[in-house]
Formats: sequence, structure tokens, C-alpha cells
Amino acid sequence: MAEADRHVGILGTGSYLPEKVLTNADLERMVDTTDEWITTRTGIKERHIAADDETVGDMGAAAARQALANAGIGPESIDLIIVATITPDSYFPSTACQVQHKLGIKNVPSFDLSAACSGFVYGFSVAEQFIKGGSAKHVLVVAAEKLSAITDWSDRSTCVLFGDGAGAAVLGPVESGGILGTHLGADGSGGDLLYCRATASRSNGPHGGSPTPSNTLQMQGNVLFKHAVRLMTDAALTVIKPLGLTAADIKLIIPHQANSRILNAVAKRLGIDPQTQLYLNLEKRGNMSAASTAIALAEAVEEGRMKRGDIILLDAFGGGLTWGAMAIQW
Ligand code: UT7
Repeated sequence: MAEADRHVGILGTGSYLPEKVLTNADLERMVDTTDEWITTRTGIKERHIAADDETVGDMGAAAARQALANAGIGPESIDLIIVATITPDSYFPSTACQVQHKLGIKNVPSFDLSAACSGFVYGFSVAEQFIKGGSAKHVLVVAAEKLSAITDWSDRSTCVLFGDGAGAAVLGPVESGGILGTHLGADGSGGDLLYCRATASRSNGPHGGSPTPSNTLQMQGNVLFKHAVRLMTDAALTVIKPLGLTAADIKLIIPHQANSRILNAVAKRLGIDPQTQLYLNLEKRGNMSAASTAIALAEAVEEGRMKRGDIILLDAFGGGLTWGAMAIQW
């Protein structure tokens, strides 16, 4: 079969959430905020927070084990591991190498991918290229985040938004359907709207003194909000239009979960019914960056929200700025 004709689809999905739950009531005791403000402005009620000794690699491996089990394939069948994360446990080794080791997988290429909240969609697209090109048959794509580790817990404008967790999927060849179309994009000029400096980024080498202390996530939320609505809508349309699809053909949009007001505005612009065609889990999960789309996908599968032949759309936006949408036939 010609490379371009190979169909690449999702063989199995998995997710992992840490045990500890942080509610809006808990946050009311930590910063000057209210459950009412957080709920009406974001749609978030609670989020999971990893234990101090729980690593991003631990969470990613747990989600990956479930994805492998659901795909019905053993770790020895994985040819490539991609981990999307902006909160790696270390600069190096990569979280992907840690996940590889924890799963007992030997020698396959493994690397991290940094595209913030769009990382899972970027990861799917990279995996698709490897499979279509014939250099991998089964690719494990993981998105794992411990945002609690880079959150300023005294800043009410950000600390109410984020949570921890991991999602994973095994991608491989399918008879028909699978990934139908993808659009990825980035605009580095918006980098200052959402960022977290690397610990060593201000060091000037051997004569420049020590690196600055670790920094925390910084965000200009209301500016980002407008970019999110526009770019998530545009990305979705850029994917579905050339496929001859309309919003009515999309069974379920599984978006990055930053804010229910953003997602309802995107749904309105696309002309989809938010009640039936928009998957939301942020009420109980918060924003988990790359892991949000991954966990939402795994949970939608678990809940039986799509059946064979249905077309779903992943749609993500985040720091970078980055964005990505992907239409997949189930
Ligand atoms: O993950 C991918 C990228 N991220 C996003 O796309 C996030 C996009 N942005 C958002 O979701 C929203 O902008 C936020 C939820 C972050 C903020 O909502 P907003 O409606 O844009 O609020 P705002 O930042 O304009 O703040 C409005 C007011 C301010 O008070 P004043 O200046 O009007 O008196 C804030 O100080 O709300 C205040 N505020 C809070 N009040 C109570 C900000 N955070 C809180 C809080 N509790 N936690």
C-alpha cells in the first residue's frame, strides 16, 4: 500500500488522575476567591493534584498501561514513544525515556514534545507521520502534566485553573477511517501571554553566576481568551472544510479544557450543539494543559460517546502560542 494511503487510527486510550482532589472550597481558604467566581468564570469546580513524590513519568506510565491494555497489545509491540509535557520531571532524561523504562520497553526511540496545551494533537500528528512513512507500526502518545508544581499558589488569577493528570493513546494502522485531516499552527509572538521560564534560562555560563530560582506559570488570561476562541474555531474549520464536512457531521468535539465560556463560544461559532456535540470534563478536572485533551478523549471513549464510523474532532490551543485540530473517523 502506498504510504499516503495508509490509514492511521486510535487502537486504545487510557488515563490517570492523582488521588487528591482540590475543591473550590479548598481554594477559598487559600486565596481571595469564591466558588461562585471560579464556577461562573471558568466552569471548574475541582481538580486533581499529584502527591509530592508522584512524578510526571509515574502518571504517564499509568495512563500508558491502560492504553496498551485497551489496545490489546503488549509493550514489546511499541516502536516509538512520544510524551507531550510542559512539566517534565527533569530537563533530561526526557519523561518519554522514563515512561519507556517504567513500562519495560527496550531501545525504541523516545522523546518529549513541548507544545503546551496543543501537545497531544501535535503528538498524534508526529505519530501519524512515522506510521505512514513506515518507520513505526505502533506509537504510544502520552500527555502528562504536573501543573501544580509550576503554579504560584498565592496567585488567585492562575491557581484556581490548573490540575494534574495524564492521558495516553496507542496509534497504529487501521483498515479504514482513522485520521482524516490535521491542522497545526504556532505564533511565537504571543509567547509572553502564557509562559514559565526554565530554571536555568537566566544563567550566563561559568562566569555569569547561578541560575535564578525556579519560576512559576504566568498568564494574561483575558487576552488569551480572545485568541483561544478565534484560533480554536479557525483550526476546526481549517480541518473540516477541505474534507467536505460541516459541523453537523461531527459527532463530538473533544477540546482542550481551559474554560467552559471559551468552549461554548467556539461551539456557537462552529454552529454545533454544546449539549450533545461538545465534550466537557473541566468541571471535575480543571485545565491540565496537554493532558486535558488526552484525558477527555479517554473518558469519552470510556463513556461510549462514539461508535464505529463516527467522526470526532480534537481541538486544542495554548502557550506558544500553539494550536491544533484533528478530525478522526472512529
Ligand atoms: O490553557 C490554554 C490557554 N489558557 C486560556 O485560554 C485561558 C483563557 N482565559 C481565561 O480562561 C480567563 O481569562 C480567566 C478565567 C483566566 C479569567 O477570567 P476573566 O473573565 O478574563 O477575568 P479577568 O482576568 O478579566 O479578571 C476579572 C476580575 C479582576 O478584578 P477587577 O480588576 O475587575 O477588579 C480580577 O482581579 O476578576 C478578578 N479575579 C478574581 N476574582 C476572584 C481574577 N481571578 C480571580 C479569582 N477569584 N480567582
